[in-house]
Amino acid sequence: MNDHTHPQVRRVGVVGCGLMGAGIAEVAARSSYDVVVVESSPERADAGRSRITASLQRAEAKGKIDSAADVLDRIRVTSDLEDLADRDLVVEAIVEDEETKTALFRDLDRIVTSPDAILASNTSSIPIMKLAVVTSRPTHVLGIHFFNPVPVLKLVELVPSLLTDDETTQRSREFATSLGKDPILCQDRAGFVVNALLIPFVLSAIRMFESGFATAEDIDRGLVLGAAHPQGPLALADLIGLDTTKAVAESLYEEFKEQLYAPPPLLARMVEAGLLGRKTGRGFYTYDK
Ligand code: NAI
Repeated sequence: MNDHTHPQVRRVGVVGCGLMGAGIAEVAARSSYDVVVVESSPERADAGRSRITASLQRAEAKGKIDSAADVLDRIRVTSDLEDLADRDLVVEAIVEDEETKTALFRDLDRIVTSPDAILASNTSSIPIMKLAVVTSRPTHVLGIHFFNPVPVLKLVELVPSLLTDDETTQRSREFATSLGKDPILCQDRAGFVVNALLIPFVLSAIRMFESGFATAEDIDRGLVLGAAHPQGPLALADLIGLDTTKAVAESLYEEFKEQLYAPPPLLARMVEAGLLGRKTGRGFYTYDK
């Protein structure tokens, strides 16, 4: 193999078929990859398959794809991790818990046979290095961080660790591009690029609201009408989920120990109260459930 050729990714694996994993499997299959998705039980595999099917049927109804059935033919959803043995690239999108993810990376390292295979994580906040060092192939581990909803948002953050080799990053860039995504490269630091900038902005808006500076509506209208944001920061927090917003803020604060990342008391109280935003019907705004 010379410097200009490297093994092409053909067979893709996804672990976790929730919100993100289902989306990643969908976009990979829509780009003609052969996809195996692994869930934690047969019941969850069924639920995951239904999630992908529903999304593909919506895409077909909107004329975005010719045939949902053709795309589904390229996706197998199972509950057996061993089915990932022949994969060229695996993206992990399971629960955001460090112990669960490191256990999975140990298993993937044992199961995925090709020494060229890439083991990627969609984590938003766990250092890639912590996942890389439990494997025997840290050069082939990196973050491939998609955005929700995966079929719609074009950004992918590529996050090599200090140990990732350049070829792995380059092949991952080609993979992301082949999915119709626009990758950006960032270092293995909490929040990567987008959350490191977005979360302090949302927290500042919460502090502004908390201090009685302006109403939620006026803060949001200010940013929509005055800065051409598609939605204001408080509406955005409700969409992300206030629990998730707080969790990401905490991981940023933990990493950098800077005040701008510290979750304000109002955010903590709202999460304790179960006011989590859209998903519970109430956050900074109320929603019809
Ligand atoms: P989710 O809760 O919707 O899905 C997680 C899925 O993983 C569940 O279906 C669960 O059954 C499955 N699972 C858990 N442990 C497993 C295991 N050991 N083996 C196989 N499947 C397992 O979560 P979501 O939102 O899809 O998040 C997944 C990952 O993506 C997390 O690391 C999260 O930080 C990251 N992420 C989430 C974004 C979001 O907007 N929700 C955006 C970007 C990244």
